[in-house]
Amino acid sequence: MNIRDETVLREFNLYPLWVRKDAPAPLAEIEAQATFEKQPAQAEVPIVQAPTESQQLSSSPTAAVASEPVHNNIGDADWPSLKQQVKECTVCKLRAGCTQTVFGVGDEKAEWLFVGEGPGADEDAQGEPFVGQAGKLLDNMLAAIKLKRGSNVYIANVVKCRPPNNRTPEADEVAQCLPYLQRQVALIKPKLIVALGKTAATSLLGRDATLGSLRGTIHEYYGIPLIITYHPAYLLRSPAEKSKAWQDLCLAVTTHSAK
Ligand code: URA
Repeated sequence: MNIRDETVLREFNLYPLWVRKDAPAPLAEIEAQATFEKQPAQAEVPIVQAPTESQQLSSSPTAAVASEPVHNNIGDADWPSLKQQVKECTVCKLRAGCTQTVFGVGDEKAEWLFVGEGPGADEDAQGEPFVGQAGKLLDNMLAAIKLKRGSNVYIANVVKCRPPNNRTPEADEVAQCLPYLQRQVALIKPKLIVALGKTAATSLLGRDATLGSLRGTIHEYYGIPLIITYHPAYLLRSPAEKSKAWQDLCLAVTTHSAK
């Protein structure tokens, strides 16, 4: 095991593993855990169907209070057109208060799509999602399941503009921006989506719920398995929850492998 693997395992409180002297080699056990050979069978995990498009829009607590999104031709936009539309978007009030839009980053044919809430200060300055402290933890979470930013992984946010003082995006802002994410999903066609935090989870599901009640289950977003876990920024504030995030990532890996 190299230093990098050790760092990642430490991140999830999985290292060092204390064992009795006569027990089998601890590193082999950790590595087996890291490759997810010992995860519970997928059949044990309930699958929740996504709402239909109309259900999604009408039952969403975010969409319910939102006005109709005003967009041109997002539905059939290709990558260059979609990027341009996001860049030029002034549909909601967030654009006036941010430095630049943050479109998303990564492999446009990725099997893995990670969705966060919206850019923070670092992302607003650099134009790329998850480049601050939360991003460092996300990179370590990816490494823990043998993934790497940009390689078979795409990272996007629900809203493309930084909300003032990093507040949670408001319902109308989510509703106005969600079509961009929907088009990103349609273009990427990921095998699996991981929602990071409540805003991403409830925006994709189209209904409100606590994160604790949503995690641990395989949901679906238009036929694509959707795994929900804690936002890395929350995990930085509540490191004791990292073990649950680890379980969620393990569920993501077994779900991805089964697809
Ligand atoms: N938090 C998010 O949800 N997204 C980012 O890009 C950065 C922090």
